[in-house]
Amino acid sequence: MTGWKHRWTFILAAAGSAVGLGNIWKFPYITGEYGGGAFVLVYLLCIATIGVPVMIAEVMIGRRGGANPIDSMRTVAVESGRSPWWSLLGIGGVAAGLLIMMFYSVVAGWALEYTWQSLTGSYVGRPAAEVSGHFSALTANFTTQMFWHGLFSLLTAAVVAAGVARGIGKSVEVMMPLLFLLLLVMVGYAVVEGDFARGAQFLLAPDFSKLSPKAVLVALGHAFFTLSLGMGAIMAYGAYMPGHASVAKSVLAIAAIDTLVSITAGLAIFPLVFSHNLEPGSGPGLMFVTLPIAFSEMSGGALVGTIFFVLVSIAALTSSISLIEPGVAWLEKRGFRRPPVTFALVAVTWLGGLFCIHSSAVFDALDALTARYMLPLGGLAIALFVGWQMKRSIAFSEIGIRSNALQLLWYVTLRFLSPICILAVFAHSLGLL
Ligand code: TRP
Repeated sequence: MTGWKHRWTFILAAAGSAVGLGNIWKFPYITGEYGGGAFVLVYLLCIATIGVPVMIAEVMIGRRGGANPIDSMRTVAVESGRSPWWSLLGIGGVAAGLLIMMFYSVVAGWALEYTWQSLTGSYVGRPAAEVSGHFSALTANFTTQMFWHGLFSLLTAAVVAAGVARGIGKSVEVMMPLLFLLLLVMVGYAVVEGDFARGAQFLLAPDFSKLSPKAVLVALGHAFFTLSLGMGAIMAYGAYMPGHASVAKSVLAIAAIDTLVSITAGLAIFPLVFSHNLEPGSGPGLMFVTLPIAFSEMSGGALVGTIFFVLVSIAALTSSISLIEPGVAWLEKRGFRRPPVTFALVAVTWLGGLFCIHSSAVFDALDALTARYMLPLGGLAIALFVGWQMKRSIAFSEIGIRSNALQLLWYVTLRFLSPICILAVFAHSLGLL
């Protein structure tokens, strides 16, 4: 049985999956927009009512099943006296991971390209229009994007092909501490050079008037996405978790790391945006247009920009390996060797990425299909499976909480509150709520 010896390797790998592009551009922006500290409070509640319970459920299935999401679902379902067809949920998860990888690696490729631009200092001291023009030029250039997206795909494949312990385990043990360090350097820089008071105020000052019902649904949806739930990435990693580690405690650590990184990223980004009198834009624009303009105007911008884009690239890489791993682990169990199947799967997602580069309609369609439909439905099915189908005695023996009251609280939340919340987010994303 391949696996990790230390529970920290599992925590770092799962936190690596969770901490990604979503933490760096999405969380800071939606927080600023929907009421700062007031939104953070609601978001923390969502992490507690939907994120943590569902993540515990995913890890639990993975560890009990001891294999990839497809086989783990089947094993645990059969062990609970249920239909082996629950393995379909694992198949959906493996497919969702590959589909997400197709556009995630395109964006990660942009981050690599910007790392290179920063390193060579090519945008430093340029007028703002020129710096923002670079992003439109890049996204219009098929060959350049194909190259960087290909390089990122190769990096992902190299890590996963090297194996669970030697590849994924070792690399997160190096990359995650480096990510934390770079993030701290960025915040330090923001405190010294940026308008920290204004940035912190935009991010954290509570404004309860902005806390609309929509804000609550956005917080819920993000809690789900940011923890990488709904497609079996965390389930696949759960299979490599050492038996002595507590599922519940590890999940709390992962959720805490993810949230801290999000808030710290906001505190690193907004002070720089405001001290250069820029508007805090949303989405890729914040990362690839607004911030590069700030870097181009500041002293030492090439170095700060390099640090920032290396940080983004690492965050993306520790997420992308968890998008591929479920499919690789499944094929490996069917008797194939890990390196060739890894490169084969990544070749498929790289090809899919070329379609995303060629047409933004394909890009948007894949994003919507996975984030709006597949992940929430996958998460709903996982909550319903563990809450209503899996044998309670098995669930309680896996969770690793000694307190009966806390155990019951988790169980009741997972059975009722989590499915209702996921359905609300789903209805919202379909425009029904
Ligand atoms: N959590 C990642 C982020 O914040 C995105 C993500 C969602 C993801 N679902 C995933 C990553 C599944 C890996 C696996 O950027």
